[in-house]
Amino acid sequence: MPDTLPPTPDPLHPSLDRLLIVDDNEEIRTQLKWALVKDYEVFVAGDRSTALEVFESQRPAVMTLDLGLPPLPQDVEEGFETLGAVLQKDPATKVIVITGRDEREHALRAVGQGAYDYFCKPIQIEELKVVLRRAYHLSRLEREHRELLRRVAGDSFEGMLGASPQIQEVFAAIRKVATTDAPVLTTGESGSGKELVARAIHRQSARRDGAFVAINCGAIPDTLLESELFGHEKGAFTGAHIQRKGRIETAQGGTLFLDEIGELSPLLQVKLLRFLQEHRIERLGGREEIQIDVRVIAATNTDLKQAMNNGRFREDLYYRLGVVIISVPPLRERQGDISLLAKAMLSRFSVENGNKITGFTAGALRALETHSWPGNIRELENRIRRAVVMAEGSKLTPDDLQLDGGFSPTASLNLREAREALERTLVQRALMRNKGRLTQAAADLGISRPTLYELMEKLGIGKK
Ligand SMILES: Nc1ncnc2c1ncn2[C@@H]1O[C@H](COP(=O)(O)OP(=O)(O)OP(=O)(O)O)[C@@H](O)[C@H]1O
Ligand SMILES: [Mg+2]
Repeated sequence: MPDTLPPTPDPLHPSLDRLLIVDDNEEIRTQLKWALVKDYEVFVAGDRSTALEVFESQRPAVMTLDLGLPPLPQDVEEGFETLGAVLQKDPATKVIVITGRDEREHALRAVGQGAYDYFCKPIQIEELKVVLRRAYHLSRLEREHRELLRRVAGDSFEGMLGASPQIQEVFAAIRKVATTDAPVLTTGESGSGKELVARAIHRQSARRDGAFVAINCGAIPDTLLESELFGHEKGAFTGAHIQRKGRIETAQGGTLFLDEIGELSPLLQVKLLRFLQEHRIERLGGREEIQIDVRVIAATNTDLKQAMNNGRFREDLYYRLGVVIISVPPLRERQGDISLLAKAMLSRFSVENGNKITGFTAGALRALETHSWPGNIRELENRIRRAVVMAEGSKLTPDDLQLDGGFSPTASLNLREAREALERTLVQRALMRNKGRLTQAAADLGISRPTLYELMEKLGIGKK
């Protein structure tokens, strides 16, 4: 391994060949600088504030830190402060702590707090050089690893992966609403990532240090849901032995996520509406009004507009909740994201399983691309998690994924029926991919628009 590494022009990354030496003893600083200047671009600092200033402007990948710094060089607290501040700015920094011969307990404490290694005085230059080389080596490996992960993952945003324009639009919407306190309604098919969107909004918002409290309105019986949401006083109903805060109150200062909002009963719809209008609640059986400061995000995988038309969902509540609507597209409509997500999940589950699975067969990739993913990303996750455990070979096949590899005619079909079944599958998928737009679907299938129209007539497929 070479002693020197090429300088890195990227300002976002720590410079791999910069070294910061922090020591209160000027003689040691000069000595180290001269010994190491051939191998690294060396910066020196004699106290905490200079050290942090240099660290901030130069972002060295590695630093040596003498724990005894002024104003009390006999004490180590200034050194520990410096260590903590540096690691807070960049946890990947490799800090090598330098201590006196009989200060092992300080050295171990420093390593416990995130220092990379320690070194005892008197400093032996050749030994220190070895430690430094290892630190730079590790730093470079970690950085390569991060970059690889990022490349596998494509664009990632708050734990959400996806490079398709469809999901990028969602990311942009999240960034935008995160700066406001407006209620958000996320809509989308089951497993498409609605809760992840809600969490991302919370983490991007000024409320990120507050709680994120989720409640599934569809999973809790109505009678319980009311006290879950609003809380109750002691003796409010049979069994209410103690006073309890509801989820709304628990979310104080943070974000409340109301999942499956379409399942809310008419009574609770009214109560929720009142809370949204007044930002106040009363616990069940309570008389005192409690002022509430929470951001509300709701989710639904049912068509609330239709529920509204049928009188099952209040219009006023709908408009209160859906000040901003973020609709999460189904996976099958995110061009290119399926294989990107599949590969990222494969490497994750494969590592977790200590497995030797290295990828997908071409057939598996095709099957992944053509499957319609009714369960969206959760379904993809489940199929890959299972396949990684069950697979025999080193690459996942359509069988491992329990996908049919595109099309599997059952034995009972004659040739005409089999052809029609295949045509129907392909036409339906093309229509789905292109949201019913005939011209694009025809282009996808490599046929003209009139031919597609004829096929649809013959197969009895209606234009969506
Ligand atoms: N863009 C994404 N990148 C990576 N993982 C994702 C992405 N979107 C969703 N997931 C994962 O898919 C799973 C389902 O996501 P989530 O629970 O947010 O979906 P949902 O829309 O709330 O589903 P449901 O309607 O069933 O409640 C989760 O494990 C989540 O981490
Ligand atoms: Mg959900």
